Amino acid sequence: MVGSVPRFDVATGSPAKQRADLLLLPAFQGPEAGPGVREVGRALDVEITALLEENGFRGSLGEISTLPTLGRGEARTVAVLGLGPKDEATSERIRRAAGRAAATAGRYKTVAATVPAGGKGPWREAVQAFVEGILLGAYRFDRYKVRPVEDEAPPPRWDRITVLAPPRWDAKGAREALRRGEIVAEAVSWARDLVNTPALDATPDFLAKEARRMSRAVGLECNVLTKADLEKGGFGGIIGVGRGSENPPRLIELRYEGGGRGKPVALTGKGVTFDSGGLSIKDAKQMEWMKSDMAGAATMLAAMRAIARLKPKVNVIAAIPSAENLPGGAAIRPGDVLRHRGGKTSEVLNTDAEGRLILADALAYLAERDPAVIVDAATLTGAAMIALGQELWAVMGSDRALVRELLDAGRDAGEPGWELPLWTSYRKQIKSNVADVKNIGDRYGGAITAGLFLKEFVGDVPWAHLDIAGTAFAEKGGDYWPAGATGNPVRTVIRFVERRARRS
Ligand code: BES
Ligand code: ZN
Ligand code: MN
Repeated sequence: MVGSVPRFDVATGSPAKQRADLLLLPAFQGPEAGPGVREVGRALDVEITALLEENGFRGSLGEISTLPTLGRGEARTVAVLGLGPKDEATSERIRRAAGRAAATAGRYKTVAATVPAGGKGPWREAVQAFVEGILLGAYRFDRYKVRPVEDEAPPPRWDRITVLAPPRWDAKGAREALRRGEIVAEAVSWARDLVNTPALDATPDFLAKEARRMSRAVGLECNVLTKADLEKGGFGGIIGVGRGSENPPRLIELRYEGGGRGKPVALTGKGVTFDSGGLSIKDAKQMEWMKSDMAGAATMLAAMRAIARLKPKVNVIAAIPSAENLPGGAAIRPGDVLRHRGGKTSEVLNTDAEGRLILADALAYLAERDPAVIVDAATLTGAAMIALGQELWAVMGSDRALVRELLDAGRDAGEPGWELPLWTSYRKQIKSNVADVKNIGDRYGGAITAGLFLKEFVGDVPWAHLDIAGTAFAEKGGDYWPAGATGNPVRTVIRFVERRARRS
C-alpha cells in the first residue's frame, strides 16, 4: 500500500515560477547545484548551495534540507535533495534519493520537482526512477495496524506531484515515463503486499483469488487449477507438498497476448505460502519470515500485472504453483516418492526442500507448451543467500544468452544479480537409489544442486532460474523499502519481458 496515490503531471517553465507547497530540487555532492537550484536561488535572492553548506549539507545521497521561502517564492518551501557525486548519478541513485525524500515530500499536498538527467543515463529513465523511488519510498504495510504508530511518518498527504521538464524534453515522453514509473511502482507495491500478508490469510486460495481479481482489472486471462484438477493432471509435487496443510494447493495460470503468433515467454514462481519445513521441520528462528516463501509467485504475478498495463508486443504465459508446507497428519515424509507432471519421479529426503518439488511440476507443464524461454523466480535456498548476501539474486540457466539478458535487465532496473554455475558434475549428488532424482544434495553448493534439480524438468526449452532467497525480504529497511518484503526482482522481470518484445 502506498497510502494515497498522487497524480503525476509534467510542467514546463521555470522552477522559480512554479506554485507548489514543496519544491524539491536535486543537488550533487559538494554541494553542487542540480537543475533549478540557481534559478530558484536568484528569485529568492539567496545563494542556496552556499547557505546549505554553511548548515552542514554536503549533498550526499538521500540527504535532504528544507528551506521555508517566507512568502517570497512561488513555492512555500524548497527542499534540496542530495544525490551524491555528480558523475555517479545513475537512475538507481535517483530512485534511492527519491525514496529517501518520500517522507518529507509526503507532508505536502502539492509537490513540484526537477529531475537531474544528462548525468548518467537517459532522462526518461531518470524520470521513471524518480517516480518509482518516491512511491516505493512511501510504501508502508499497515493493513494490520489498528492504531497509528507515533514514531512513524504518517501516511503521505500529497495529491499532486509535478515534474518540471526542461525545454529539451518532449512532454509526451515525460508523461510516458511518469506513467511507466507509476505502473512499475504499483506492481512492486502489490508484490510487497502479497508477501507481507501473513500466511494465516495469504493461503494458496487467497493468492489465486488475488490473481483473478488482478487479471480482471488489467485484462489478463486467468485460470486456476484446484486440488482436484491438480490430482487429475498428475501434478504430484504440488499435491505432495500441500498434503500437510488444511489449505489446499493451487496452480495459477495467466496469459497475456501482445505479440501475434510468436512463441510465448513463460514465467513461474515459487508460491509456498508458509514454509515450516514440513516434517523436516525448521527451528523457530528460521521460520519467522517464512510467510515470504511465496515471493517468487508474487514477483511473477506483479510482473504480469505491469506487463498487462505496459502492453509490450510479446506473448507471455505464467503457471504459478502454490502450496503450504506444514507437517499435518497427511504430510509427505522423508523417503516418500512423488510423481511429477510429465511422469518423472523424485525421492523426498528432506521435506524442507519443497520449493523445487512444486516448481518441477510447473516447469514441466510450461515446457509442454513449447515456449521461447522459461524463467522462474524462487526463494529456493538459504545457500544462495549465504553465497551472495541480500543485495544480489542468483541466476542459473541452461542458456547463456538468456542468463545474460536477465543479468542486464537486473542491472539496469537497479536490482542486480550474479550468476552461479549449473555445475554438471554435481548432478550426481541428486541421484536417487529409488527414484529419478532426489530432492537434496550434499551439504555444500546447495543453490546449485537445487538448480540442477529444476533443470531436470525443463526439457530442451531455454530456461533460467532466479534464486531470490536473499533479495525478496529485508529484515531492515533501506532507501526505498521498509523492513519486510522488497518486491525485488519485479522490476527486473518487467524489463526483461519488455526487451524480449523489442527483439522479436
Ligand atoms: N524457503 C527455503 C529457503 C529459504 C531460506 C528462503 C531462508 C529464505 C530464507 C527453502 O524451502 C528451504 O528450506 N531450503 C533448504 C533446502 C535444504 C533442505 C536442502 C535450505 O536452504 O536450507
Ligand atoms: Zn521454502
Ligand atoms: Mn523449505
